[in-house]
Amino acid sequence: MEWIKIFESSSRAEEVLKENHPRLLMVREKRICIVKREGKIYAVQNSCTHSAGSLHLGTINFKGELVCPQHQYQFNLKTGRENSQRSADLECYPIRESDDGVFIGI
Ligand code: FES
Repeated sequence: MEWIKIFESSSRAEEVLKENHPRLLMVREKRICIVKREGKIYAVQNSCTHSAGSLHLGTINFKGELVCPQHQYQFNLKTGRENSQRSADLECYPIRESDDGVFIGI
């Protein structure tokens, strides 16, 4: 696994990412959906495993799940698991924060 810096610092990530607002991140030609929620940053593949909906256009529901904008499948941000297991799990990417910045493991 390679660790790639995505923010210069945790405070910069804090400025850029709004709570519960998914965003698209391009890292090494991968489209990644990144979400800040309750002090943590989560990163999952951006393409929905059901029918390739763009998850960064989705929402976060009251349970903290990422809801696909196309057919409203709901994915756990920590595990990538779809709530009702109607489609495959999302690939999840680890995030590491340190004094040197915020990194994603690819
Ligand atoms: S494409 Fe995501 S739920 Fe159908």
